[in-house]
Amino acid sequence: MSSTAVPSKSLYERLGGEISVDLAVDIFYKKVIADTLLKPFFAGMDMEAQSKKQKQFLTYAFGGPNHYSGKGLRNAHKGAVANGMRGEHFDRVVMLLAATLQELNVPESLIAEVAAIAESTRKDVLGQ
Ligand code: HEM
Repeated sequence: MSSTAVPSKSLYERLGGEISVDLAVDIFYKKVIADTLLKPFFAGMDMEAQSKKQKQFLTYAFGGPNHYSGKGLRNAHKGAVANGMRGEHFDRVVMLLAATLQELNVPESLIAEVAAIAESTRKDVLGQ
């Protein structure tokens, strides 16, 4: 019997790769712009471009290929912080991300991993 360790699959792969992440981000942003608490922050924004950056970022954050070349989370959210973004907005984003994945029948254990990754960005996003 071989004792060679089988490398575990990345969260990106376990979620279903590009198709799943793209679909999740599309559904997620529909929820964000329909959400009374969050939508003012995205008013007038090119959501197409935003979705593309978010797909690249999450793909990378979930251990998939790194095509994210954005300005970094701390920089990207300076404007939102100046506009009053705080913990409750961050919590809502994490909640909508989890709700999206639940809708897509992603198992709870994977949703918990995604939530932990999202949580790990809190300080950068909130500029703390
Ligand atoms: C888990 C939490 C979050 C993650 C992972 C995240 C991720 C991102 C990413 C990857 C971008 C694109 C950055 C770039 O240009 O390279 C972005 C931009 C942006 N995010 Fe977030 N975000 C989060 C939470 C929030 C929250 C709570 C708000 C406000 C309610 C928000 C508002 C924005 C806005 C307005 C932009 C566009 C900034 C600009 O281009 O001027 N984000 N976010």
